[in-house]
Amino acid sequence: MPLLQIDDLHTAYGRTRVHRGIELHVEAGEIVAILGPNGAGKSTLLSAIAGLIRPTGGTIVYQDQDLTGWTADRAAKVGISLVPEGRRIFQGMTVRDNLELGAYVQSDRKSVDADLDRVLEYFPILRERLDSQGSDLSGGQQQMLAIARGLMARPTLMLLDEPSLGLSPVLVKDLEAIILGLREQFGASVLLVEQNASLALAVAQRGYLMQTGSIAAEGLLDEMRETGLMRELYLGAEAAGGD
Ligand SMILES: Nc1ncnc2c1ncn2[C@@H]1O[C@H](COP(=O)(O)OP(=O)(O)OP(=O)(O)O)[C@@H](O)[C@H]1O
Ligand SMILES: [Mg+2]
Repeated sequence: MPLLQIDDLHTAYGRTRVHRGIELHVEAGEIVAILGPNGAGKSTLLSAIAGLIRPTGGTIVYQDQDLTGWTADRAAKVGISLVPEGRRIFQGMTVRDNLELGAYVQSDRKSVDADLDRVLEYFPILRERLDSQGSDLSGGQQQMLAIARGLMARPTLMLLDEPSLGLSPVLVKDLEAIILGLREQFGASVLLVEQNASLALAVAQRGYLMQTGSIAAEGLLDEMRETGLMRELYLGAEAAGGD
């Protein structure tokens, strides 16, 4: 039984349909990539899994529980943690407060402190900046904070939405190691949405290509790289670059 199993998923914003029958799964311990052009429906899929939008059809089963139509709060409580696109941290709050907000599944001080310590071990740069405002962090540090905040919820599945967006090639390289560590150090499986195909190839074995609300291809990324579709996306990502 996979960790996450999605069958025949349909979503819509009002009368505008986005997904038309998505089939996707993530096994425990897997890092799985979703690639695809702008507007394909990648973020909307993560929103549906995280309980931010209610599907119009199909099922989302997580650890044997049908969580289709669950609230974001309940999805978080079963271990699903979304790190949204555009590193939405609280700019006017300190790094510490941002991290503690991520810990809402724990109630007692001691376990929050222990989790904070563990996460800061993993992101030493954030320990140095604990009392800085979110807005004073660099783009790369803000992305680390967004991931670190997601980890504070003790996830079993992390949903990462384009974490490499706007990062320099050096920082994208760091991100590779960070994503691999989510599995190795924190035991979290990862569903990674990326337009940077080289990052996806570096961390994930298996993946899906999404196009206008459907899965256009799936399989081992190494094999999919040979297809024209992947090449098109890959060249697109290379051309877009980063800062
Ligand atoms: N809040 C919203 N209300 C209405 N339509 C939306 C909303 N969010 C997204 N859409 C539409 O849904 C479709 C899928 O959008 P989505 O953001 O999931 O794509 P994406 O693959 O994440 O794109 P990108 O690579 O640009 O982030 C697009 O046509 C988009 O315009
Ligand atoms: Mg998106």
